[in-house]
Amino acid sequence: MTPSNNKRIGRYDLITPMIPCKDEIMVKFEKFLMSGQYILGKEVDTLEKDLAEQCGVGYAVGVASGSSALFLALAMAGVRPGDEVITTPYTFDATIESIIMLDAIPVMVDILPEDLNIDPNEIEKAITNKTRAIMPVPIFGAPCDMDPINAIAEKHNLQVVVDMAQGFGTLYKGKPMGSYGRMSTLSFYPTKNLPGIGDGGMVFCQKEEDADRIRKIRGHQAVRMNNHLYTGWNSRLDEIQAMVLNIRLARFAEEQADRNKVASIYDKYIPQANRWQDPNPDQGNHITYHQYWVRCKRRNELQAILENNGVDTAIYYDPPLNHHELNEYCRFSGFLRQAEKAGREVLILPIHAALPFEDAHRVGEIVGKFLAEG
Ligand SMILES: Cc1ncc(COP(=O)(O)O)c(C=O)c1O
Repeated sequence: MTPSNNKRIGRYDLITPMIPCKDEIMVKFEKFLMSGQYILGKEVDTLEKDLAEQCGVGYAVGVASGSSALFLALAMAGVRPGDEVITTPYTFDATIESIIMLDAIPVMVDILPEDLNIDPNEIEKAITNKTRAIMPVPIFGAPCDMDPINAIAEKHNLQVVVDMAQGFGTLYKGKPMGSYGRMSTLSFYPTKNLPGIGDGGMVFCQKEEDADRIRKIRGHQAVRMNNHLYTGWNSRLDEIQAMVLNIRLARFAEEQADRNKVASIYDKYIPQANRWQDPNPDQGNHITYHQYWVRCKRRNELQAILENNGVDTAIYYDPPLNHHELNEYCRFSGFLRQAEKAGREVLILPIHAALPFEDAHRVGEIVGKFLAEG
């Protein structure tokens, strides 16, 4: 069975939000084509300046992808072969891949059940004399509890790099997530909240010297730091991506409001215990809803019912990354009970700026009824 207009309710719609931008993109593209300024031109420069300001940091460097951004940020935070980086198992593969690419060791600690983010209380237990950095990930756009994380980092002289791939627009205590940590990183993958039309990423830096080093490395210049020589290579943000992103950025707030409206419709049908809860309410935290999740023990049954009603859903991250084939390169601290449980219970519902509100009501009703029936 599908909805009355016979259309499935999809998880994403990458095209509809592009329609109001199309003419401007085409005009700019023609100019770009005839400019000859194809690499690191004024579009990248404009985007870096605007995003640095919006994220409340001094510097932003456009790079080839969110994965490259993570790898570069960790390297320039001083992560070297054999170092340990404490992070979450409940995240996308790139989080641990970036650590492993540096021949460093991801150390996974458990998450909080309310927001599915790294549990700050588990971090200190995982620290050894090899620990160099902590990498929180605001998963699905939910703010991580940065004050205790930064306090632990300061106490043990560790670096904080935030994998903000899913968290553009997220606020922690009224300030953008990108402004926490020594560096933070963004992905412009087309399904992200600020989407490109291909790959792209950004590193946000508090320190000018970090930004300068990343600019060097993304353009084939080697960097020597703490007696370690890091090779340069090509990791530049493409000028065409930056051009599209500058146009999409102007519409970001409006699109975000539509996503938030969808989330508030779902909230009406879904009890609080089955969805994101702010572990620190009334402190100015704001989730961007990169994804909207619902959790329940009979998750697979709920997914089948939604599927039969024409609603697309997804399961993230089942199993969590402690089961990844790369786990022989990783270390685990404590039992990852909440991450395992989230892997078994979480279901991702459709959310995007072009989702008709009546579709959101329809999805919410089905989920609410299922949960009420226990
Ligand atoms: C949490 C997280 N980190 C890193 C990345 C990597 O970003 P990219 O696909 O731009 O390399 C993603 C992308 O999905 C992500 O969700």
